[in-house]
Amino acid sequence: TFSKPVLGIESSCDETGVAVLRWEPDAPGRGLLAHALYSQVKLHANYGGVVPELASRDHVRKLLPLVREALTEAGLTPADLGGVAYTAGPGLVGALLVGASAARAMAWALGVPAIAVHHMEGHLLAPLLEDDPPKPPFVALLVSGGHSMLVEVKAIGQYHILGDTLDDAAGEAFDKTAKLMGLPYPGGPALAKLAEQGTSGAYRFSRPMTDRPGLDFSFSGLKTQVLLAWQKSDQSEQTRADIARGFEEAIVDTLVVKCRRALDAAGAERLVIAGGVGANRRLRAELAAAGERDGFRTYFPRLQFCTDNGAMIALAGAIRLAAGQQQDETVQVFPRWNL
Ligand code: KG4
Ligand code: ZN
Repeated sequence: TFSKPVLGIESSCDETGVAVLRWEPDAPGRGLLAHALYSQVKLHANYGGVVPELASRDHVRKLLPLVREALTEAGLTPADLGGVAYTAGPGLVGALLVGASAARAMAWALGVPAIAVHHMEGHLLAPLLEDDPPKPPFVALLVSGGHSMLVEVKAIGQYHILGDTLDDAAGEAFDKTAKLMGLPYPGGPALAKLAEQGTSGAYRFSRPMTDRPGLDFSFSGLKTQVLLAWQKSDQSEQTRADIARGFEEAIVDTLVVKCRRALDAAGAERLVIAGGVGANRRLRAELAAAGERDGFRTYFPRLQFCTDNGAMIALAGAIRLAAGQQQDETVQVFPRWNL
């Protein structure tokens, strides 16, 4: 059995995340000994989006201090670690290389295994860090800045993609729509906040691809609808909030319809929601309500484990190490990588 703590490192985009987790099969959340996060949001805000080169450099600056911080919080020294897990993709190549190089170097120096983790598997497993964790089989809705997927999970590590996005990911749609209405970066959370002030039904946008069978998504047309509505409007604060509300309702409705369909297709009764857009309050409320109506259970990570973090990477790595998985010592990253 694998009982020593695992260090987890996330550096695929603009958050440096580090965590220490001891594998506890029945209650993974209890094994989480420490986690630390540094967000680069302020660094990229002036540019309206993530600047890859700046992201890499900032990971270099912040990673080791965060490792130290997490180990201190866990009351451990590096010698107590039994393995190091890191995000190997998908993501920004330079940013990934920072985490991968550091992780492989530390593991080599400590004489413990390093393990490459798929970023989206990390997201998918994040709900396991909560009390009463979901047991497979379940369906996972993975909605982040780079991905919108429905995944059938027959067992941990056994993933079947039921649906994917044909164009923009859900988070990307939030971010781009926010930008075209002049909201500051990062747009998604700002747009969601603004939507709370909006009037429901003042603007109604289409629910893309819900009128035909299938589990794929397409969100780029919605963005165009919003652009046209915004350009034609008086562009007042209230109108901006009303449009934000209409947009959010369209995305959330679409995701709810597709989740229901995916659960039917897989014959599953448990739905896991994860990824940055999983932090959206309306999405959480609507899916929970749909579950009560239709008799499926919903599982969400806490808000800070919806967006990128080190805990989910430590968990995914610990599961793989506990299963005896091994890798050679090459530092390799996969900017594009299918789950
Ligand atoms: O998982 P994540 O941190 O990074 C990726 O792997 O992409 O997700 C970030 C995405 C961004 O597009 C962000 O706008 C979106 O999640 N997001 C939200 C909310 N919080 C984060 N979208 C809608 N509502 C939110 N509350
Ligand atoms: Zn992510």
